[in-house]
Amino acid sequence: MRKKLVILGAQWGDEGKGKVVDVLSESFDLNVRYQGGANAGHTVVVEGHKTILHHLPTGILHKNTSCVIAQGMVVDLKGLKEELSKIKSLGIDYEGRLYLSDKVHLVLPYHKHLDALFEKKGKIGTTLRGIGPAYMFKYGRRGIRLADLQDQDRFEELVRQNVEFVKDISEKVFGEKFETTVDQIVQEYMSIYDRIKDFVTDTAQLIANFKGSILFEGAQGTMLDVDAGTYPYVTSSNSSALGLCNGTGLPPKFFADAYTVGVTKAYATRVGDGPFPTELKGKEGDLLRDLGGEYGSTTGRPRRCGWIDLVALKHAVETNGFDAIIITKLDVLDSFDKVKVCVAYEVEGERVERFPSSLSTLERCKPIYEEFEGWKTSTRGISSEEDLPSQARAFISFIEDFLGVPVVMVSTGPSREEFLWLKNRIRTELIPS
Ligand code: IMP
Repeated sequence: MRKKLVILGAQWGDEGKGKVVDVLSESFDLNVRYQGGANAGHTVVVEGHKTILHHLPTGILHKNTSCVIAQGMVVDLKGLKEELSKIKSLGIDYEGRLYLSDKVHLVLPYHKHLDALFEKKGKIGTTLRGIGPAYMFKYGRRGIRLADLQDQDRFEELVRQNVEFVKDISEKVFGEKFETTVDQIVQEYMSIYDRIKDFVTDTAQLIANFKGSILFEGAQGTMLDVDAGTYPYVTSSNSSALGLCNGTGLPPKFFADAYTVGVTKAYATRVGDGPFPTELKGKEGDLLRDLGGEYGSTTGRPRRCGWIDLVALKHAVETNGFDAIIITKLDVLDSFDKVKVCVAYEVEGERVERFPSSLSTLERCKPIYEEFEGWKTSTRGISSEEDLPSQARAFISFIEDFLGVPVVMVSTGPSREEFLWLKNRIRTELIPS
């Protein structure tokens, strides 16, 4: 049994991590989110009721799990306040089990304004939640941290400087008027801070001294990681295992005994722009989108869909050092006659087996596929390995052999109950006793 579990997206986000963390976090004492912000949309379906979490760790839904929003996140306090009200309206009490790092950077209204402006020049297809500009301010040493709200005068001065800076960019670079009232921002955010200040603490110290089991919940996915992903079509944080240390404030040796699991769909999706070698632009892509309900949980945008890409997944395995893989949405493939798996790319007659860093190479990659017989029967809700059709088992075995990592769990529907364990011995690594 390990007491530290890391759950990460292995693709371009939206792999179904919310569902997986929901199933697992009940068995953990602490659930930590440590990067990204309201760009994430972790969807959980409980008793037919859909809840989408943007900032809060998924474990907030389990009354015995404490939750941390660690220092690497960028937090939109207004959004967080709404999320907390929503959780409360569901009858969930979070008092005394939610902790926010005093080092998180704030996403303020002017970050969203800049996000929209930047999208007009050099489109990435962001979620427009102000994430990129908030991280820009952080690394450009202009950011405002939650700890700055302990001193209203200081907060006000920082907001004033930022507003002037943004006004210059908006009006001088983009020729767009930017009107905002510093006082209004300060009043509004101070009043939210007053309501949450009891949750604010040094979360790095809290995690370092924590005696129970801990689940670290990544947001987005490895291929959107600012260093490991398809740069510049990425998010602005380290959304792979690379973000664990700076996101939590803990040293590498803290994670030495962690068990790291990557979550992938049985196919692939991407929302926003950027390279996606296995994208299906015709009827098959539309069918995947319809069957998988592939619309962004944060923005509602239709997701681009394609076959599973094992070249990209191998890159994710190497980047994160996955101990195991979880496959979600197997049931979405139930009706296909043939199911394809990308095993290499072809670039101008050359076979490429490693995920390229160069964007122009990536754009020229043509997928080389292995084809599998479809199982043509419903796997929806199957909860034991023996009930899986043999063709689905062959598909899963091929993926694990190719990646050299065991597949330990398969999700067969959106609800909490719709999943199965493969290789039961590994389950004991995933769930602390
Ligand atoms: P940003 O994180 O809003 O700056 O967006 C940068 C890129 O990451 C865009 O392609 C977004 O669609 C994508 N992205 C950000 N968050 C998520 C997510 O939670 N799931 C899937 N894609 C995401």
